Parts: sequence; C-alpha cells; structure tokens
Amino acid sequence: MCGIVGCILDKKVAPTIIESIKKLEYRGYDSVGIATVTDTINVKKGSGKIKEVDDEIKLTDIDGNIGIAHVRWATHGNPTKENAHPHCDCDNKISVVHNGIIENFKELRQELIQEGHIFKSETDTEVIPHLIEKFMKEGNDLLKSTQLAIKKLIGSYALAVISTEEPDKIIGARNESPLIVGVSDNGNFLASDVPAILNETRKVIYLEDKEIIQLEKDKVTIMDINLNPLEKEIKTIDWNPEMAEKDGYDHFMLKEIFEEPQVIKDTLFESEKIKEIVSKFKNFNRIYFVACGTSYHASLVGEYLIETQLGIPTEVILASEFEYFQKTLDDHTLVIFITQSGETADTIKALKVAKPVSETLAIVNVVGSSITREAHHVIYTRAGPEIGVAATKTYLSQLICIYLLVAHLGENEELIEKLHSIHELSLESFDREEEIKKIAKRYKSAKDFFYIGRGFNYPTALEGALKLKEITYIHAEGYPAGELKHGPLALIEEGIPVVGILPPGASYAKTFNNLQEIRARGANMILLGAENDTQIDDVEDKLLFNSTIDEIIAPLLYIIDLQLLSYHISVEKSIDPDKPKNLAKSVTVV
Ligand code: M6R
Repeated sequence: MCGIVGCILDKKVAPTIIESIKKLEYRGYDSVGIATVTDTINVKKGSGKIKEVDDEIKLTDIDGNIGIAHVRWATHGNPTKENAHPHCDCDNKISVVHNGIIENFKELRQELIQEGHIFKSETDTEVIPHLIEKFMKEGNDLLKSTQLAIKKLIGSYALAVISTEEPDKIIGARNESPLIVGVSDNGNFLASDVPAILNETRKVIYLEDKEIIQLEKDKVTIMDINLNPLEKEIKTIDWNPEMAEKDGYDHFMLKEIFEEPQVIKDTLFESEKIKEIVSKFKNFNRIYFVACGTSYHASLVGEYLIETQLGIPTEVILASEFEYFQKTLDDHTLVIFITQSGETADTIKALKVAKPVSETLAIVNVVGSSITREAHHVIYTRAGPEIGVAATKTYLSQLICIYLLVAHLGENEELIEKLHSIHELSLESFDREEEIKKIAKRYKSAKDFFYIGRGFNYPTALEGALKLKEITYIHAEGYPAGELKHGPLALIEEGIPVVGILPPGASYAKTFNNLQEIRARGANMILLGAENDTQIDDVEDKLLFNSTIDEIIAPLLYIIDLQLLSYHISVEKSIDPDKPKNLAKSVTVV
C-alpha cells in the first residue's frame, strides 16, 4: 500500500518525480523518499507527509535525469527515516523502491547478513538491493541481477531499481502489486497508479504479474520472468490531469463529494453495457457479493435490492473472510466483486478462489487494474480518479451500477426511470450544506455516534458511521433500527448523537418507533427524512429531503449528506480528511 514512481527525462527529474509521487500520497503518507542516479546514488528521504518532509529537506534539490520515488504505508518497521524508501545496497550503488510485502524476507536477510551484507533498516524491502548487489558482483548486469533477485522473492512487489553501474535505465517488476508504464515523447515513467503520470502522458501500458520492465529514455522493453520480450498494447487513458487536482476545493474529499451529481450521470451511461453483460448471464440460483470497507456497504445495498426485487438468495461476504465459504461455490452461483481500486489484495485473493468454479463479475473504478484482468465480466464505475482516502463518489457510482444491474436483471424499466431522476435530486444535498455545517459544529466534540437505518438504509447507516470513524476519529456504530433493543440500547445516554435515517416507505413506521425509543433515552437525534414528514417536526437537527425519495432510492441520496457531515466534522477538528491516520486508499496487503 505504498506508491512508487520511476522516471527518465532529458532534464533534471526531481521536480517531475515529486509532483508525480504527490499524486500517489493517497496510497501512504508515513514517509517519502527520492533517489536519483548521477555518478552516485543521491537519496533524500524522511518520515511524515510529502509537504512536511519537503519543507524540511527540499526533496527537489537533487540532481539527475533518472530517478525513483516512494510514499510509504508502513508494514515492516516503524515509519522512521531509516525505514523510508529508497533503500540501497552496501556500496550505495543500487537503489530500490518497493510496494508490497516480501514474505520470506527474514530468511533472505539472514542469509545475506551471513554473507557479509550490512542492513540499515527494519524493512522487508532492503533485501532486494542487497540481492541485486550480490548478483551484480557475480558478473550479471542490472536487468539480469534484478531478475535473479525477484526469483528469490516470495510475496508481492512492484519495484523500481536504479544503479550507478548502468545509469541510463530503470528496471521495474511487478507481482501482485500494481505497476503501470507511462510513455511519452519527453520521457518514460513507471508508477503504481495512473494519476501519477497524468501530467506527463495519457499513454499507458498495464503490466501483468511476473513481468519485468527496462525503462530507457527513448525505449521501453517489457519482458516475462525469463526475460523474453513481450508485445504489449499501449492504451490511451480518458482521464485528464485536472481530474487529479483539487480544483479550488480545500480538500479532494470535498471536491469528490461535489462531483457526485456528475458521476451519477456518467455512470448511468453504462446502462447499455450492463444490459449486454446481463444478457450473457445464465440462470443463477445464488449470488455472492465480495468486497471490503465502503465497497462492502455498497454490496449490502445490492443484497437488499436483489432479494427484494428479484428474489434470488444473495449473501455479502467480506473479502478477507471469503476463503471460508469456498466450498459453497458452484457453477450456478454468480460472484460479484466490488472494488474502487481493483487492487485490494483481499478482494483479488477471493476472486482467485471463486473464478475456477463460478461466474465472476467485477464492478471496478480503476481501468486496467488487476481485478479487471481477472474477472469474467467487468463493469466500470465512471467516477474518475478518487484521491481522498475516504471513498465518496466511488461509493455512489458503485451503487448506480448495482441498481442498473438489478434493473436489467429484472427488466425493471420503472427502476431505470427512477435512476434518471437521481441527478437532479442529488444537487439538493448541497443546499443543505450550511445546515450540515451547523450540525458538525455542534457535535464535533462527541465521543460516540450511532447511525440507525433499516432495510435498504441499514447499509447507509454503516457507511455513514464508517465515514465518520475514518476521517474524524470519533467512535461510530451503524445499527439496523430494530436491533438496538437487543443490546446496544444500553449505550444510549443523555446527549449522545444518533443519526436516524427515516425515508418514506414500507419500513418507515417501524423505524420511526425505534427512533422514538432512542429519543426517549435522552439521545440527541439528527434526522434525515422527507420534507413533508410532519411527525418529525419537533426534532431540532434535521436534514429534509425531497418527499419523492423513497426508501429504495434513498441510499443513493441520503449518503451525500452523511459524507458532508463527516467532512465538516473532520474540518472542525482540524483533521486532514484526505489523509486520515493509519489508513491508505489502496490496501494491497492481506
Ligand atoms: O478499492 P476498494 O474499493 O477495494 O477498497 C476497499 C476499502 O479499502 C475501501 O472502501 C475503504 O474502506 C475506504 N477507504 C473507506 O472510505
């Protein structure tokens, strides 16, 4: 869950490479480092976010036309300067950045220490430059030495290597961690993700596992693990550089929430493609959704929709738990994987379990990501790049795809029509922003929050609570409204904020009663309901929605206000919502 960049230009590389790595900061911000090659390896690195480290040691103040850089989400070793990448060999002639986990690093490290190598960090990565050093000292060139080194590695890696012995190239390799090549007339690039190269080029080559790359100024050579050259297609990305900029907003998260109405429109364009995929499906007698985090919550909405609208037994399984269900798979089961990044290690692992037995469908945001190359069918959410660590617009785009899928499976024209009304209705959330800000101010010091919903809107409660936890560090729980009386009601006390999700529909009366039970115990209710609902007149903190929004489509709209609420509490608490502590956007470790 780190980010790496490699770059070859015919001018000083550091300013470009630091701009690129900034675009990957969503992948980790425990430390940052850069190395360039001249007649020596020049390294600058430090712990903390890029801005903090740059202010202190001026990361761009480093010569060389060829360089590599890294942002870290710590796995092995504390987030210290010593553990920050790049890591070098004993003689400082080789430098490596790495994203992934080397599972056999302890054995390799021990062997290398016995052979006389000196280690300077606690990381798993450091075995890589020492292995390359060993093979170069045996007379191999940089490419061959990197190949021999990675043949010894067990685990996941996307890596970039430079050396003073061959200062005109970068060697890269990938296995189970994302890596792309960007090609342009001005130079060539390696990166963990597309936003890193968008300022320089939109021409991209996606790499597969066990592929090795030799990057030179005017040449890119891609090889298999045995160094046989491969023909790879160069794809043109339809994202533009502005999509990965803040565009005047204080934070990416706010920008991405404001993009949601457009994302709704863009994703609805996928309707025909989804219809086509559905037409290829055979009859399934069971559906599994597999996902993590926010994507898991989108899947839960899918479960309610499929079971109520189509009557097909459906289950949602956290990707990290999926292996325990594998014996239940068969060829009449459809397994749907939902993932923004398409790189979540748990989800990839689950897909590998399901694919040989069942039909698989992936709903993914990042074009060309690992999962899109594994699943039988792929639906793209059209959210564009999401930089904020907290998923917002991509959640909504996942939901739109799920609703379209269900509508096409059930040939439900009425639902498709309803979906086309969502764009207009979504704009109304921004009219409530001032009210949301007031609520945020009032509750910014709360220690606990509850989010309560029922049926289709139980997942909305879970997602609202997750957003609050991750960017405000306030403890929050999402509960189905009817479940509180079975235990958690004991936690309700005077003044505790409880967000009640109460759209009109079949579950309204029961939810209303449950919320009354909570109010009666002294909770401060923040209610999300219909503007024509006179029963909630006496609630002080309310966010009132268009009365045409029923409980079935409410998950697509009520969540926008909850995202804004978390965002404004985060800002009130002076937390950077784009980079919450301990988290990274793309979780490429299991
Ligand atoms: O890329 P994915 O959708 O597979 O990521 C899954 C989760 O890591 C992700 O949704 C995470 O929970 C979000 N940061 C929550 O905002």
